[in-house]
Amino acid sequence: MPLENMKAMLSKAAAGRYAVGAFNVLDYNSAKAVVEAAGELRAPVIIQTSAKTVTFWGSRTLMGWLRELAADSPVPVAVHLDHCKDVDLIGECIEAGWTSVMIDASARPFEENLSLSRRVVEMARPRNVTVEAELGAIVGVEDDIHVKEQESHLADPAQAVEFCAKVQPDCFAPAIGTAHGIYKGEPKIAYHILEKVAAATQVPIALHGGTGLSDEVFRKCIALGCAKVNISTQIKYAFIDGFVGYHNAHNAQYDPLKVIKAQFDEMKKGIAANIQLFGGAGKA
Ligand code: 13P
Repeated sequence: MPLENMKAMLSKAAAGRYAVGAFNVLDYNSAKAVVEAAGELRAPVIIQTSAKTVTFWGSRTLMGWLRELAADSPVPVAVHLDHCKDVDLIGECIEAGWTSVMIDASARPFEENLSLSRRVVEMARPRNVTVEAELGAIVGVEDDIHVKEQESHLADPAQAVEFCAKVQPDCFAPAIGTAHGIYKGEPKIAYHILEKVAAATQVPIALHGGTGLSDEVFRKCIALGCAKVNISTQIKYAFIDGFVGYHNAHNAQYDPLKVIKAQFDEMKKGIAANIQLFGGAGKA
C-alpha cells in the first residue's frame, strides 16, 4: 500500500481503545522487520526515524527504502519523524515524503513551544502530513532524573488543554512520567494527568519511553487514551544482540547474510510481541 499519515490509524485506535505501535528503525533491516511483523499480524504500523538516523543515511535514501517496503505491504504504514527540534529538517523530511512529523519544542518556554508547534502544523497540514507535539519534558533515563525532579517535568493538564486547542496537533505527547532508555526502577506514571488530558483534549495520545514498561502499564495507558506507543531502545538491543549473539554462536562462520537474518529475526520477534500486546493485531 502507499504510505499514509497517522490520522485515520490513530483515530480508529483511540476509538477502539488499542494502540498503534511506533517503532524506531535504524536501517533497511530493522524497517523490514517492522513491516513484516505488522503485515503478518494484519496491524497498522508506524515506522519512526530519529533525526539522527535521517541525518546519517540522508532523507531521500531512507525514504526510498521505506516507501518500497510499504508499497509491498498489505497493511497501512506511516513514516513518522520522531522528536525533531529542527524546523528545517522537518521541512526536508516533508519534502522527501515523510507522512508524519514530531516537533519537539518542549524544552522551550510554553509560548515558544506553542508558536513553533503551530508553525509546523501550518507547514505540514497542506501537505497532508500529520503532526505530533510535546508538552512537559519526556526525559531520558540517561539524564539521571530523580522522581522528585521528574514530577516537575510532567505536563500541566490546564496548559495541555490550551496547547492542544491552539496547536491542534494530530497526536499529543504529554510528559506523564515515562522516560526513554532502560528504566532503573519502577517508573511512576501520572495516570491522573493522562486521563484528564486525553478526556479534555480528545487528541490521540502518544506514549513515549515504551521499552521496559510492564504489560499492565501498557494496558492501563492504552485504556486511558494512548493510541500510539513508541518503542526504540528495545530495537537497538535486538539489533546488536541478534547480530553479536549469532556471531558468537557461529564464530568460525563469516556469512553476513546469516548474521543479518538472525538480527532481523530478533527484532521482528520483539516487534510482533509489542503489536499483539498493544491490541493492534487484526485491525488493518
Ligand atoms: P524507548 O527508547 O524507551 O523505547 O522510547 C522510545 C520513544 O519514546 C521514542 O520517542
